[in-house]
Amino acid sequence: MNQTTQQKQQQYLQKFIHNYNQRTKKSKQITQQSRPFFADHKASIIFTVPFKEICYPIAGDRSVGSKIWDIDGNEYLDFSMGYGVNLFGHNPPFIKQAIEEQLDRGIHLGLGSEIACEVAQMICELTNMERVALSNTGTEAVMTAIRLARTATNRHKIALFSGSYHGHFDGTLVKAKTVDGIRQNLPLAKIVTKLDRLGQIAPVFCLFFSTKILIKGDLSPSTSRLQPLLAESLSSFV
Ligand SMILES: Cc1ncc(COP(=O)(O)O)c(C=O)c1O
Repeated sequence: MNQTTQQKQQQYLQKFIHNYNQRTKKSKQITQQSRPFFADHKASIIFTVPFKEICYPIAGDRSVGSKIWDIDGNEYLDFSMGYGVNLFGHNPPFIKQAIEEQLDRGIHLGLGSEIACEVAQMICELTNMERVALSNTGTEAVMTAIRLARTATNRHKIALFSGSYHGHFDGTLVKAKTVDGIRQNLPLAKIVTKLDRLGQIAPVFCLFFSTKILIKGDLSPSTSRLQPLLAESLSSFV
């Protein structure tokens, strides 16, 4: 990369950061003000020094249908659908009405629920699964799924791809790193996860993920190109 390109990129980045900061002033302000007492991982996610000044979450104000407005008044078209849960858009009247009705009846945690039974039955009908377990977060769902799989198979190791996200619990917060030519399963955060004698996460196998492999193949995980890679990686693991 020549000097001119680098300079142009720097200039563009500086201008972009300035404009972004101007348009999202309040979001930045509340993140900065709350840092001393609010441990919000979103405030430092994908932190890098060049992007430090735009490393803060956009604070939402309201949402309707496909649109969200932030506290600075900017309007956004929401492609992420609340990580997938807003299938009917933001604040659809029939869900709002159901929540209002339940608020009137009270939120009585710890008891069984007629609605939960009905929901479980409907999910079974929809998905053809035998039974349903409900959880508050994806993290809990993954923890339960792993526990069930380990119990049912009596096998302990699980495999995941580096860069994938399966919730914020130690059992899946793992990264793959090559040390002396050998791929290792290392904890994303030190101390918190139980390590084996080599300092690796004992029961989790973190595979390097390459989009190139998928693109070269036919985009299916069971492609002939991907299978040898998995077989090679998994041979030391079964
Ligand atoms: C594949 C996957 N597993 C688990 C999770 C964790 O979900 P939650 O943030 O609700 O705990 C996520 C969240 O993005 C996810 O994408």
